Amino acid sequence: MKFFADTAEIDAIKELAETGLLDGVTTNPSLIAKSGQDFLEVTRQICAIVDGPVSAEVVALDHATMMKEAEILRKIADNVCIKVPLTIDGLKTCRKLTEDGTMVNVTLCFSANQALLAAKAGATFVSPFVGRHDDNGANGMELIRDIRTIYDNYAFDTEILVASVRHATHVLESALIGADVATMPPKVIMSLAQHVLTDKGIEGFLADWKTTGQTIG
Ligand code: E4P
Repeated sequence: MKFFADTAEIDAIKELAETGLLDGVTTNPSLIAKSGQDFLEVTRQICAIVDGPVSAEVVALDHATMMKEAEILRKIADNVCIKVPLTIDGLKTCRKLTEDGTMVNVTLCFSANQALLAAKAGATFVSPFVGRHDDNGANGMELIRDIRTIYDNYAFDTEILVASVRHATHVLESALIGADVATMPPKVIMSLAQHVLTDKGIEGFLADWKTTGQTIG
């Protein structure tokens, strides 16, 4: 399963890229606003740090303007992935862009039928929002399971990009279901390495090592 960082914070992206665990980045208008940076400039910087897909979202609601915005965004770098909302205009834009060989992430997916449409529109990625789905009283992971079944039934190439990930259990369940990608806030990616017994084990080993009086090298 690929790991994308769901952030527009350059320092966090650099830190994650150095771990070798980062396969891509997703941003959205809220994350750009939170970063306080210029959208095109920050996208350019992220694309230079990460080799994998970097999602940059259009803000227009109609197909014609979405295409104009996508035109500007896709010129930033070869690894820009245009993010469009799961609406009819977004799907139309998705089809047009993927026909030209541009990567597209269809976002704000909350039903398996919507995911079916995204795949039919040739999406590179579909982004079901599990956290927001849970918040709304639904079961985000059931949605991922249903989309996996449908995509496997018809051998769709669209990758399931689990979004709105809030904690490590979302990541574990996504991996068990066979989702292709999870996009996570940097702190969730980092938290996956943590285990109290790992910390305890290191502490014990180092205490015993100290008693030997040895050094390595
Ligand atoms: C995905 O691409 C979105 O940017 C993101 O996962 C939304 O997450 P949130 O529900 O935590 O805002």
